[in-house]
Amino acid sequence: MCGIIGYTGGSEALPVLIQGIRLLSYRGYDSAGVSVWRDGTLHVRRDPGRIEDLAPNWDPDTLAGTTGIGHTRWATHGVPNRVNAHPQPGGEGAVALVHNGIVENDLALRAELEAEGVEFASDTDTEILAQLFARAYDGDPVAAARTLLARCRGQFAVAIQHHDLPDTILAVRRGSPLLVGLGVRENLVASDLRPLVGRADRVIELAENDIAVVTPTTVVVHDESGAVVERAIAPIDHAVRDIGKDGYPHFMLKEMHEQPSRLYELVAARVDPEGTTLRFDDLGLDDDDWRRFQRIDLVGAGTGFHACQYGAYVLETLARIPARAVMAHEYGARDPVLGPDVLVIAVSQSGETMDTKVALQPALDAGAATLGVLNVRQSVIGRMVGGVLDMHAGPEIAVASTKAYTSMLTALLLLALKAAQARGRTQETLQPVAQALWELPAAVTRALERFEDAAQAARDIRRADHMLFLGRGADAVTALEGALKMKEISYIHAEGYPAGEMKHGPIALISREVPTVAIATPGPWRERMLGNVREVKARDGEIIVVATEDDADARALADFVLTVPALHPLVAPVVNVVPLQALAYETARLRGCDIDQPRNLAKTVTVQ
Ligand code: F6R
Repeated sequence: MCGIIGYTGGSEALPVLIQGIRLLSYRGYDSAGVSVWRDGTLHVRRDPGRIEDLAPNWDPDTLAGTTGIGHTRWATHGVPNRVNAHPQPGGEGAVALVHNGIVENDLALRAELEAEGVEFASDTDTEILAQLFARAYDGDPVAAARTLLARCRGQFAVAIQHHDLPDTILAVRRGSPLLVGLGVRENLVASDLRPLVGRADRVIELAENDIAVVTPTTVVVHDESGAVVERAIAPIDHAVRDIGKDGYPHFMLKEMHEQPSRLYELVAARVDPEGTTLRFDDLGLDDDDWRRFQRIDLVGAGTGFHACQYGAYVLETLARIPARAVMAHEYGARDPVLGPDVLVIAVSQSGETMDTKVALQPALDAGAATLGVLNVRQSVIGRMVGGVLDMHAGPEIAVASTKAYTSMLTALLLLALKAAQARGRTQETLQPVAQALWELPAAVTRALERFEDAAQAARDIRRADHMLFLGRGADAVTALEGALKMKEISYIHAEGYPAGEMKHGPIALISREVPTVAIATPGPWRERMLGNVREVKARDGEIIVVATEDDADARALADFVLTVPALHPLVAPVVNVVPLQALAYETARLRGCDIDQPRNLAKTVTVQ
């Protein structure tokens, strides 16, 4: 979703802004733009499209200058075209403003400004911010920024230039994250860390309602009242340096292949090789808390929600605590019954997803315990929750989540083991599960070695318009995740269902043209899954089965078998999804889709 970069220093701004836009593009965007100050004028270029196509047309002579701001836009208000792209002008070119987030009272503000004679060129809420700032500015940029904070509702991070202010960028933050990167005689503003790495070595994370005035040699931060405030300066985490594809054609493929090492790191951090000692002292929850909880609610979105469903399943099965998964955006709407004996777990790769952040608020208000299963500890959600369970997935760049998903499942299973142990479940029940977790890295490696099987199946289904994915028990969620991966990156319409539901409706869809994927690895539900497979065959449906290597029944029934090693049935969903990631990847590749940045999607959804 939208990204912000700003630069002021001794170098030409344009190349820094273009590189920043490139580094932000993993978030998903449909247009981009820059503004550069020179000789009292703000020179703006903005267009729909990808930065690779846009940058060659941005003339370095016209855009010469050492202070500028840039943006990647993911359309919310108005179609992706030049006029709606950022930077948005205000005050007939006196102001250029880039914006992440949403202004919620935009219609009222627009009407008010129009009544005052302002003519809007775009459909965006961003132009309202730019016009409002231009009208409020009378030589004091902090006062004008305070007007934005006072008048606008919603979440917004903005970077602003004014033509009267050479070498100056104003950064204002409410709700959406915004950072100031500190370099040597140059400073930067950005919505996340990636575009800062390599130029800045330290970073200030702006707090809620902060206003920063940034020049090449100074950064002055004001709070909402206008008072100058001190904010902590942190070294930049060098772990995010040099994120490349390591020779893989796509980040998604690279990230799938990182799964074994990521899972190893996560398991090793939490459980000993014998599967007896679980280490969870850092979560702020002790055994009494686990015994006290009457219910656990898990909230997340998309892939994160699928992980929540799995988490609820294993928490209930292993720890015998009532647990439910709720889509984050639906959580507040149902007015959940909450109190100190409820634990609410937010599951989010980015830690920035607005729906998940908003879902936490009623839990915090009611004094419920909160926990984040997150990939970015220093994130908006990370700061809200009582404890963070780090999923150890490492930076995920491809929009379609792969390694974060398998890490989420593993983290939640580890947590369920911890809860079960605290609630007195016997070692005999828990140890086989804990030990199976150690088998995951090798099992996922083996599943990845069978990539060619998925490629073969993909050649067969590449022209399908619709697909069904079926699973049962803990693997019902694997069906949902497999379908989501397929629709996200190949644009094939794919439905995921718990297989028991099939006779209650979806079976009507079965035909030769609608391939079905069934997950039928060993476990209490395998026989019934094979029953579903037979039902599909009986209706002439094409069928791909995820099964273990020695499964002769699956081979006899299926058109294609995607094999995985046998694992404990509660652990198997972590490996069973891997061939489905591969199937989606190979299908999207054959269909010529943009695998890492699928159309319309953003990596981090920072609006509701
Ligand atoms: C799917 C995908 C999305 C995200 C969802 C939540 O591949 O990546 O469905 O899972 O937008 O994102 P996080 O986990 O960052 O909260």
